[in-house]
Order: sequence, then structure tokens, then C-alpha cells
Amino acid sequence: MTWTRLCSISDISEDDGLRIDRDGRGPLAAWRVGDAVFVTDDTCTHGQASLTEGGILDGFQIECGLHLGAFDVRDGKVTSAPCTIPLRVYPVRIEADEVFAALN
Ligand code: FES
Repeated sequence: MTWTRLCSISDISEDDGLRIDRDGRGPLAAWRVGDAVFVTDDTCTHGQASLTEGGILDGFQIECGLHLGAFDVRDGKVTSAPCTIPLRVYPVRIEADEVFAALN
């Protein structure tokens, strides 16, 4: 497994998450819930909406701002329609204050 450094924990807003744009792939989103960090795709699976820009994080649930579909950031499962396709979630490793994810 190849680990890629994405950000520092302190970069992640507990309210809005952090959008991470990387060359050659769609944007990622880093979420912080208490001491836990999760990394998912940032684009909603229902449309082309950014979850970090317009979405609302409530506990472990991210609600899309466009049509109010929602996902669990822990495993990407759909928690509210109209979304039907799970959100991709990436394994995360924390070292000190640094967040790494396995993106392959
Ligand atoms: Fe996210 Fe429709 S684009 S719920």
C-alpha cells in the first residue's frame, strides 16, 4: 500500500472538511470528527456537486448541498436519497499531525 501525504490534521475544518485537489484525479475531501479523520472523494455520486463546498457535516454524515443526499464518511454508505451509489472512501494513516491516505 502506498501512502500519500494529503494535509495536516489542523488544516481540516471540523465543520466543512477540506477539499484537496490533486493532479490526475478528481478532488478528495478530508473530514474530521472528533479525533478521527476520514478521506473520501469530494464529488457527490449523484451529481457534480462538491461535498466540501456546500455540504454539511453532521456527526459522521455528510449531506450534499445540491439535492440533500447524504453519506457516512466512515464507509461511504448512502444514508439519504436521492444518492444510490456509495462514496469512495480511502484508508487513512495519521503520523503526528500529518494525514496520509492510500489512494490506489
Ligand atoms: Fe449530491 Fe444530488 S448532487 S445529492
